[in-house]
Amino acid sequence: MELKGRNFLKLLDFTSEEIEYLIDLAADLKAKKKSGIPHRIHEGKNIALIFEKTSTRTRCAFEVAARDLGMGVTYLDPTGSQIGKKESIADTARVLGRMFDGIEYRGYGQEIVEELAEYAGVPVWNGLTDEFHPTQILADFLTIKEHFGKLRGINFVYMGDARFNMGNSLMVGCAKMGLNFTACAPKKYFPDPGLIEICEQLALESGATLKFESDPEKAVKNADVIYTDIWVSMGEPAEIWEERINDLEKYQVNSDIMAKAGENAVFMHCLPSYHDMKTEIGKKMCEKFGRDSMEVTNEVFESDRSIVFDEAENRMHTIKAVMAATL
Ligand code: CP
Ligand code: NVA
Repeated sequence: MELKGRNFLKLLDFTSEEIEYLIDLAADLKAKKKSGIPHRIHEGKNIALIFEKTSTRTRCAFEVAARDLGMGVTYLDPTGSQIGKKESIADTARVLGRMFDGIEYRGYGQEIVEELAEYAGVPVWNGLTDEFHPTQILADFLTIKEHFGKLRGINFVYMGDARFNMGNSLMVGCAKMGLNFTACAPKKYFPDPGLIEICEQLALESGATLKFESDPEKAVKNADVIYTDIWVSMGEPAEIWEERINDLEKYQVNSDIMAKAGENAVFMHCLPSYHDMKTEIGKKMCEKFGRDSMEVTNEVFESDRSIVFDEAENRMHTIKAVMAATL
C-alpha cells in the first residue's frame, strides 16, 4: 500500500482498503513498541504541530509518535504563532512546508486544513476540525478490532450531538468499513443531509447500514458499541449549555441504556468527558444545572464495559501509523 506524500484530512479521501491498512499498520507498530523493537524509520525528519484549539491526547500522541519514529517536533500553540492574525493560511503553509516534512493542524473549519494542505507541499494531517476528526476514528476502530476481532457487522450506536466532528467522522468511518451505524439524537442533531447521502452510497458498497433514531431504547437494542462525546464542543459558546442539556439529557449514556444494549456491549468516548465534577467546566455546569454528570454517568465511565483508556492509548499508535505511511 503506497500512501507516501498523501495528506490525511478526512476519511472520505481514503478507500476502505487504505483505512484498513492504516489500522493494521498501527497494530503492528503497537506490537513493536510493546516489545521494545525500535522503529525510527523517519530519523532526521521534522514535523510541526499547529493547535488553534487545546488538546491533551492528540498533541501528546503526535509528539510521542514522532519521537518514536525518530523525528523532531515543533509545537505551535493557540496563541504562539502568526497564523490567521498576521499571516494567511496559504503563506503559513508555504513557510512551514519549506522547513518541515509534515504538518498537523487542529482548528476550526475543515476548509482551513484543506487550504493548508493545498499550499504546504508536504503531508498535512487533520488533528480535528469542526467537521471531522479522522485520526480519532482510526484509534476507535483499532480499539473495536482489538476488542471484537472485527469491524464489519459491528452494531455501532452514537448517542448525542451527531452533527459535529465526532458524529460526522464516525458515520463516514462506519459507512466505509461496514459497521452498522445508528445516530441517536433529536432530529436537529443528526448529521448534515448531504453527508448522509454520501455515506448511504458508501454503505451500499461496504454492506453497512445507517439509521437515524430519536428513541434511545430502540437505538441501543443489540448494540455492540455505545459511543458518546461531550455535548458542547470546543469553539461553541458557553451560553449553549442550557439548550444542549435540555435537548440531549435523554441521550445520556447511563446504566439503564447499557442494560438495554447487547449483553457484551462496550462504552466508548473520544474524551475529554464530563462524567463527574472533577473538572472546572464540568463542576460549574453540573452545579448550575443541578446534575452530577453530563453525556455519561460516572458509573458507566468507570465500569468494566468502558474501554475509553484503550481508545486513548490507541490515538498514539494510529497517529504513528498515519505519519509512518504518509512521510
Ligand atoms: N480525543 C481528543 O482529540 O482529545 P484531545 O482534545 O485531548 O486531543
Ligand atoms: N466534539 C469534541 C471532540 C473533542 C475530541 C470537540 O470538538 O470539542
